[in-house]
Amino acid sequence: MAAEPETEQVKPRVFNPGQIIDGKWKIKALLGKGACGVVYKVEDKKRKGWMAAMKIEYISEDFDQTLRLEIGVLNKMKKHTDMLKLLDYGRRKTFTYMVTNLCGKDLMALRCKIKRGFNDSSALRIAVFTLYGLKQTHELGYVHRDVKPGNIITASSNGRDSRCLLLIDFGMARSFITSDKDGKKQIRIMRRRIPLRGTVRYCSLNVHDRLEQGRCDDLIAMIYMLIEVTLGVPWHHLTDEKEVLAMKKSTKDSDLFEELPEELKQIFEYLKPLSYSDRPNYLKIYNLLMTAIKRLKINFLDAYEWEDEEIEKDLKMEKEKKLKEEEAKKDVKEAPKEVEAEKKKVGEIQQESSPETKTNRDINLNLVPNKDQTTKSEYDPKSTISAVSADSFESKHTGLDTAIDYDPIEFTTKKAMNREDLQFLVYPSISIANFKEHAIPF
Ligand SMILES: Nc1ncnc2c1ncn2[C@@H]1O[C@H](COP(=O)(O)OP(=O)(O)OP(=O)(O)O)[C@@H](O)[C@H]1O
Ligand SMILES: [Mg+2]
Repeated sequence: MAAEPETEQVKPRVFNPGQIIDGKWKIKALLGKGACGVVYKVEDKKRKGWMAAMKIEYISEDFDQTLRLEIGVLNKMKKHTDMLKLLDYGRRKTFTYMVTNLCGKDLMALRCKIKRGFNDSSALRIAVFTLYGLKQTHELGYVHRDVKPGNIITASSNGRDSRCLLLIDFGMARSFITSDKDGKKQIRIMRRRIPLRGTVRYCSLNVHDRLEQGRCDDLIAMIYMLIEVTLGVPWHHLTDEKEVLAMKKSTKDSDLFEELPEELKQIFEYLKPLSYSDRPNYLKIYNLLMTAIKRLKINFLDAYEWEDEEIEKDLKMEKEKKLKEEEAKKDVKEAPKEVEAEKKKVGEIQQESSPETKTNRDINLNLVPNKDQTTKSEYDPKSTISAVSADSFESKHTGLDTAIDYDPIEFTTKKAMNREDLQFLVYPSISIANFKEHAIPF
């Protein structure tokens, strides 16, 4: 537990680029350092160009070993789409490691990059993706207990996934369900007084009171996080827990949400009276967020404010490359056509073949990640679909950029599908159905 910057740091042994871990993964660069571990960009030694992220936790008597727990949670999450994918894990003499798909940048880094608070469009989309990530975690029986900007990350640095946000860092997660002697699931008994877990800036009042955290506490932390990345929380400058608590208690909701969409305040007011065993009404929260999103004409296909010229340049280059490739293919196809035209002239050809037409729906149905493929997340270097690296994510979603780029052309001319519907096809995790499901009955 700590105000940012987070808790005490382990003095880690730093790996250098080029070092090989467990004979399988080559260190490429440092991605991040946290209280629990060090995260590196790694390359699969057997497949050049296959990048992933490796989190390393040093084995030390002084620190809780949280990576094992995180591996356990991610293992259970394998079937869930649009969540962090566990690819590999292992233990060496001095450290434990886990390998996941390589993501883009976390919200803290993005917020620093643009040097101002996020606008409503970013905030509300962050809220929906975070709500999805938290609901998936809760349905597995875990409370995350460390929702903060550093733990929300873009799923990739480019392509379709760069506009999708993922919840990461399950090192603080705790199970809130248990099974009785007949195997029936029930709520785990609340402990009386527990050590502080989470981050002072975002945690709920329950956490300050050392109460067991429930699902509502994750959602309250999500709201504080949204305020922080937009307006900044009034206790931003404070680090002392008592002072933070006093300010959280004294700040009126009307001041806290003064310039934010009204719906966020309504969500906060709904969450505050909930307690440990209550199941939050995810659908109600989703509906409130979507009401604001519709009212403000926000679309999940829109570029985020942090997408800079660099990304645009990359996308443009990629598009131009694809166009050139298509033109080259066309040239090859057209050559025999010319011959055919000649033949036609002399009456040898009776029927002309009609060109293949692709509707927008066709294009975009291909873009929805295949559930079977993404569930096979256990690392197997022989499989072409099991190791989901950033690069493989991109290749799986080839055409997603195109879908976004094609949108104005396809949908204003052919009217195959409007942009409002398309966003749910491109980002299935934001669909209402996900927020209606009940995986556990309480
Ligand atoms: N899969 C990933 N792809 C890209 N970057 C990542 C990935 N996982 C983690 N990171 C980066 O590393 C940072 C630290 O990772 P993580 O939060 O999992 O570790 P931690 O030790 O628990 O950190 P903290 O104590 O700061 O929360 C993240 O904030 C993010 O910037
Ligand atoms: Mg973290």
